[in-house]
Amino acid sequence: MIVSFKFSSLVLLTTAASSWASSSAAYAPTRVACPDQPLLRVFTSANQTLDPREEEYIQARSRTLSAAWHSWIDAETLGYDLDSLGGEGGINFPIVGLGVSGGGYRSALYGAAVIAALDSRNETAAQAGTGGLLQVTSYLAGVSGGAWVVSSLILNSLPMVRDLVLGPEDSGTAGWLVDANVLVPASADFPSSGLNASNITDLNSAYLTDLLSGIAAKAEAGFNVSITDAWSRALSYHFFPGTNLQNFFGNSTHGAGILWSSIQDLAIFKSHGLPYPLLTAESIFANQTGLLRVPLGNPVYEFTPFEMGSWDPALSAFADIKFAGTRFQGGKPVDPDTCVNGFDQAGFIFGTSASLFNGIVNTTTGTISGLSDTPETEAALKALLGTLGSLSKGVIDVANWPNAFKGIKPGTYPDSDVDNLRLIDGESAEENLPLGPLLAKVRGLDVIVALDASGDNPNTTFPEGNSLYTTLNRTTTVLHGVSQPLPPLPPSPTDLVKLGLNLHPTFFGCYPTQSPPEFPLLLYFPNAPPVNGGAPVTNTPTLQLQYPTQNVSRFFDAAFTNAVSGFVPGALGADPLFGKCLQCAVIDRARFLSEPQVPRSEFCDKCFSQYCYTPGGSQAAPSAAARREDVGASVRGRYMYRPLP
Ligand SMILES: *[C@@H]1O[C@H](CO)[C@@H](O)[C@H](O)[C@H]1NC(C)=O
Ligand SMILES: *[C@@H]1O[C@H](CO)[C@@H](O)[C@H](O)[C@H]1NC(C)=O
Ligand SMILES: *[C@@H]1O[C@H](CO)[C@@H](O)[C@H](O)[C@H]1NC(C)=O
Ligand SMILES: *[C@@H]1O[C@H](CO)[C@@H](O)[C@H](O)[C@H]1NC(C)=O
Ligand SMILES: *[C@@H]1O[C@H](CO)[C@@H](O)[C@H](O)[C@H]1NC(C)=O
Ligand SMILES: *[C@@H]1O[C@H](CO)[C@@H](O)[C@H](O)[C@H]1NC(C)=O
Ligand SMILES: *[C@@H]1O[C@H](CO)[C@@H](O)[C@H](O)[C@H]1NC(C)=O
Ligand SMILES: *[C@@H]1O[C@H](CO)[C@@H](O)[C@H](O)[C@H]1NC(C)=O
Ligand SMILES: *[C@@H]1O[C@H](CO)[C@@H](O)[C@H](O)[C@H]1NC(C)=O
Ligand SMILES: *[C@@H]1O[C@H](CO)[C@@H](O)[C@H](O)[C@H]1NC(C)=O
Ligand SMILES: *[C@@H]1O[C@H](CO)[C@@H](O)[C@H](O)[C@H]1NC(C)=O
Repeated sequence: MIVSFKFSSLVLLTTAASSWASSSAAYAPTRVACPDQPLLRVFTSANQTLDPREEEYIQARSRTLSAAWHSWIDAETLGYDLDSLGGEGGINFPIVGLGVSGGGYRSALYGAAVIAALDSRNETAAQAGTGGLLQVTSYLAGVSGGAWVVSSLILNSLPMVRDLVLGPEDSGTAGWLVDANVLVPASADFPSSGLNASNITDLNSAYLTDLLSGIAAKAEAGFNVSITDAWSRALSYHFFPGTNLQNFFGNSTHGAGILWSSIQDLAIFKSHGLPYPLLTAESIFANQTGLLRVPLGNPVYEFTPFEMGSWDPALSAFADIKFAGTRFQGGKPVDPDTCVNGFDQAGFIFGTSASLFNGIVNTTTGTISGLSDTPETEAALKALLGTLGSLSKGVIDVANWPNAFKGIKPGTYPDSDVDNLRLIDGESAEENLPLGPLLAKVRGLDVIVALDASGDNPNTTFPEGNSLYTTLNRTTTVLHGVSQPLPPLPPSPTDLVKLGLNLHPTFFGCYPTQSPPEFPLLLYFPNAPPVNGGAPVTNTPTLQLQYPTQNVSRFFDAAFTNAVSGFVPGALGADPLFGKCLQCAVIDRARFLSEPQVPRSEFCDKCFSQYCYTPGGSQAAPSAAARREDVGASVRGRYMYRPLP
């Protein structure tokens, strides 16, 4: 479908002063000679294989983690001898992955704060005993808003998290610049930029022009651009290195030219000092235009530093991400001499993962439900959509990806005959936690840490575990054997809420009956009201695109405090033993790696009786009645459930 626009595109592009167009060249993909090696990996679902480069990375990282395990786990208190737990050579520790849910800026902030609470470099976290988990993590997955924090951490080489978000010492001079609105940054609410109110309109117009200059260059290079490109460019100002208070409206590439494949070149990646990042995206077929919720069977894709592709049995193939954008047929470049580089802009990858526009863009009016909520954002979006409509020959409400898998698996892969993949927000089938990549059987994870800032309950914008059940459904009905099973959950989300498991960190899968265990251990960290009974500040709306700096500071501290605190059964307040209990959980699978199997210690047994979900057993819960779930003056809701205008 080719969309044409009736509304005008303001005066963008034409008023561009050259200095504003600094990102243009850097965002455009380039044509290069094709390399000699194969660019596609096709396998069968019965014989999943990892990219050998990933395998090498994870093995090398595991070898470097022994010291981090030893310095984090307080073996004496837990009642273990780490050397016997670690098995031969002390390096057989569990493989740990952490995933951050979607939920816009809310989930990015929640993910950041909880990751800080698991980071041994933060003294408070280290003292609590939770700090250290990040250092033993091998995989870091994100979807949608969760993809923003993951990408930001990785491409900034894993700095101290609070500094990453708020700038050094909360200075607000760098960091995510949360007080600048993602669509119309120049405003009286972005005072730190020192703007003169009389030229705010000029600045916003220049800003949109800068976004569009890069996109125009990509279109000129022959690619179908869309609102995802504008979104990607805008988010790059906040989450990637290069933009600060001084140059926000000035001369910088603002993250254009930072490629997802350039993670390979980071010094810290070369020394295996980063958890391996994985982002997810959904896909939609041409006959599903306008759908808000996508069927579970649609192919789900993931992005690694080396590849993009899908574990879904229907596809089971990955393409070299450095050459994404190249036209392929049957696994080979259509033009054997010409391949594409630079399509894998890091902004475009996390923008694809957060491409929630299908179903909420009204192409007649040029508005986006939930985003066109002030005269300023409405005008900006009309201008963007109008210009994009004239720049693109394709659909503008999805991320357009030249289909690397054209001609692959025609019998099972529904998009085998299309030129252009329509990728959308990874949570579009209601899988708001990026568990798919972490459950891929071939990766063999032992422990999965799920940070959930979904807005399952539309009244409170707090999670109620819904995504776990969607993943359960997808692993059993779509993925069959290619995924590890989820550990046992309560029968329904309603039961999960009744047990209060959405109010505190909960461990699932503590009592496997086989060795090796038949499922990984799942450590669930739900965004929840404060442990001390205070007013909640972390359940902000999904589509809030601007925060006062002080609010982010409060948000960060509240989510951090919950994450280090655990819970006290039947009461408010922090459990001083929670950090040690978390250590019990993360190290637990190592008992099975030892020969003979080491019994669970008495200390850890006690922890497990408090923090584990026990199918059919009794369950301790905090005092739910004492927790406040109100949401202040914020607009509620999650776009997923937002009715069409
Ligand atoms: C923008 O910055 C680049 C790199 O720092 C520099 O080469 C260029 O001259 C600058 N352009 C303007 C208009 O200041
Ligand atoms: C699985 O795939 C790998 C890599 O392609 C191959 O070496 C191996 O022989 C295959 N194993 C089976 C059982 O087909
Ligand atoms: C640790 O994080 C908390 C919560 O954000 C913060 O208040 C504290 O200053 C941090 N400590 C260090 C040493 O960074
Ligand atoms: C906006 O106003 C400030 C302060 O008067 C000035 O320094 C800046 O150059 C102006 N920006 C533009 C784009 O006109
Ligand atoms: C803002 O800009 C206008 C027009 O350029 C100028 O008349 C006014 O003095 C400026 N105000 C401040 C506070 O800089
Ligand atoms: C599983 O997903 C299918 C397809 O989306 C849906 O029809 C079904 O109701 C789901 N089952 C459960 C138990 O949620
Ligand atoms: C777009 O907006 C127009 C005007 O408000 C409305 O009539 C139309 O139904 C909307 N279209 C969609 C797909 O929501
Ligand atoms: C652009 O989109 C149109 C319409 O979907 C499609 O026919 C065309 O192949 C796409 N072009 C590229 C370069 O992907
Ligand atoms: C929609 O498109 C997909 C992919 O091309 C195809 O598999 C499916 O059968 C189509 N569904 C309908 C109802 O036409
Ligand atoms: C939300 O609040 C309304 C009105 O109080 C209530 O009817 C509804 O059941 C609530 N929804 C949920 C999911 O709690
Ligand atoms: C900032 O926080 C205050 C106090 O919690 C709240 O009243 C206000 O609505 C928040 N503002 C925004 C834009 O989030």
